[in-house]
Amino acid sequence: MRKVAIIGVGMTKIGHLFSESLRSLFSNAVRGALEDAGNPKIDALYLGNMSAGQFNNQENIAVLLSDFAGFNGIPATKIEEGCGSGAAAIYTGYKAVASGVHDFVVVGGVEKMMDTATNDATSIISTVTDQEYEAFLGLSLVGINAMVMRLYMDTFGVERESFAKFSVQMHDNASKNPYAQFPFRISMDKAMNSDPVAEPIHLMDCAPLGDGASALVLCPKEYAKNLTSSPIEIIGAGHGTDNFIFHTRNDFLSLKATRDAARDAYRMARITPGKVDLAEIHDAFSITAFLTMEDLGFVEKGAAAQAVDEGLISLDGPIPLNSSGGLKARGHPIGATGVYQMAEIVLQLRGEAGARQVQGAEIGLTNNISGFGASSFVHILSS
Ligand code: COA
Repeated sequence: MRKVAIIGVGMTKIGHLFSESLRSLFSNAVRGALEDAGNPKIDALYLGNMSAGQFNNQENIAVLLSDFAGFNGIPATKIEEGCGSGAAAIYTGYKAVASGVHDFVVVGGVEKMMDTATNDATSIISTVTDQEYEAFLGLSLVGINAMVMRLYMDTFGVERESFAKFSVQMHDNASKNPYAQFPFRISMDKAMNSDPVAEPIHLMDCAPLGDGASALVLCPKEYAKNLTSSPIEIIGAGHGTDNFIFHTRNDFLSLKATRDAARDAYRMARITPGKVDLAEIHDAFSITAFLTMEDLGFVEKGAAAQAVDEGLISLDGPIPLNSSGGLKARGHPIGATGVYQMAEIVLQLRGEAGARQVQGAEIGLTNNISGFGASSFVHILSS
């Protein structure tokens, strides 16, 4: 296995990008990543996307987007793994370079969701959960998260204030991120009293819908040294899965897929959670973030609320989370999210994150999950 480095990142701002098409969005992100990497010749493309077929009535998009991004003729593959599609594409691209199959690959993610009405978008998103029992009975992804949040609050004696504080922190971070969908701060009052979506989840507990694309250039670390002074190495990678149907799981307050992915990634990187300087985690809903902080080993089970209340996750805290603003406030264009997470960590480890820079960051982690933890990816990066 060869060591693999990231030598280029590109992102579009996330939002209601009505003047951009799927192909123009993706091409813009790829152009940024290529320029950042010094325009190497690309051997293959791996694309994360969840549902262009339903959101945009367009399938076969790997070749389409490869063609429009200027890569006509190279192997191009779409990777779909629900909300984890971006990280699934990264993991696939990583393995292609590590194994020696390809030298220079682009890993991209794109989702264009805003041309779809919210009700339809909710139905499309719910296809990441079980259709025969759960969706058939009217249970959406936010519904699952709401039940788990209530169980978490009852089990650990946590109040909604702690979840609201998490969202306030996410918006605070996003206010420093030029790529964020919601680059503004919110008050505790707004976080607590926003509209209910599925009690106890309110609007400010939710990631929004959005359009966006992001891209990375990967290559063997030994080549990277000649192209950039700041290659960022992927030192750990893990992929876990769990029972697909949520109600068949043994434990509703822990994501086994994340625990398994983290175990493998930490082992490969030869580090423990305490060595991680910052992380981008999958806060599709604030409850998802709380479970994830615990399953990644940053805090004990049931201790996430205390960590948030004590400010441990802030940019100058011991475990800064989601410096980008996270899914909540940077945005969550689903199939692109895993790639946005990694792009943020790369900028941080290079010391190029501007006002949201975490001082002295050397090791960063990303966690991207699909459904309610049906699968989970953990990647660990080092400067
Ligand atoms: N956080 C903060 N503000 C939000 C928001 C969010 N999650 N979602 C929408 N808004 C804002 C909009 O910007 C808009 O503000 P404006 O009036 O100042 O322009 C306003 O709320 C209404 O927006 P709208 O698009 O009409 O919201 P909506 O009611 O159609 O959608 C949700 C709200 C919660 C249904 C939608 O954001 C959603 O489905 N989120 C979850 C997405 C999801 O499940 N992702 C997959 C997870 S893996």
